Amino acid sequence: MRTPIIAGNWKMFKTMAEARAFAQDAKAGNNTSGVQKVICAPFTALASLKEELAGTDIAIGAQNMHFEEQGAYTGEISASMLKEIGVEYVILGHSERRQYFNETDETVNKKVVAALAAGLVPIVCVGESLEQREAGETADVVRTQTEGAFAGVDAAQVADTVIAYEPIWAIGTGKSSTAEDANETIAIIRSVIGERFGQATAEKVRIQYGGSVKPENIASYMSQPDIDGALVGGASLVADSYLQLVAGA
Ligand code: G3P
Repeated sequence: MRTPIIAGNWKMFKTMAEARAFAQDAKAGNNTSGVQKVICAPFTALASLKEELAGTDIAIGAQNMHFEEQGAYTGEISASMLKEIGVEYVILGHSERRQYFNETDETVNKKVVAALAAGLVPIVCVGESLEQREAGETADVVRTQTEGAFAGVDAAQVADTVIAYEPIWAIGTGKSSTAEDANETIAIIRSVIGERFGQATAEKVRIQYGGSVKPENIASYMSQPDIDGALVGGASLVADSYLQLVAGA
């Protein structure tokens, strides 16, 4: 059985002080077990969040990193810098990074390799745009992105990663995919992993749904056989709402 994972993606929200306040509230109400909990915060909030969440089962994640270990890359952060402050997860290839910061399947792949080498768990995002969906290209898009992200990675390492299927048209729009449609695409992603890395890997890798997930609809996603959790933006910003998502999983 795969352990469900509920990851919050705060995007560019919350100062250090706001992150600390969230952590205090989350600690006070954190009473669900059997679900992996992760908060992916802005770089500047990670250290204080880690400090505040010490001794809890809520892990922290980053939202991006560079694939080089060090060098003249102004403004960038490496995997080992994240490790040093206790980060365990890193979101890679989010559609907002692909759209606004020119991330490609190739750079996502380099980042996946670097994150794994540093002992971080990548949360690799894939998903189609509305135009691609309407053109019937969803399966091809997620196949290309999945194959691209994991090119050259060992099956054993792929098994320990997390994939997030986020249809772009459902992100922050309030227009979520139906649980059945999300499950159908996630099953395609799992079969791509199976073809490339074997059935055992496909059965082990966890695949989340992301896109307008809320406490009110989390249960419908979790009732689907191939959906192992959620990557949540807006509804993860308030501790009570995040904990309701965890409880719903
Ligand atoms: O990574 C999570 C995200 O893109 C979904 O955002 O606000 O629709 O839950 P939201």
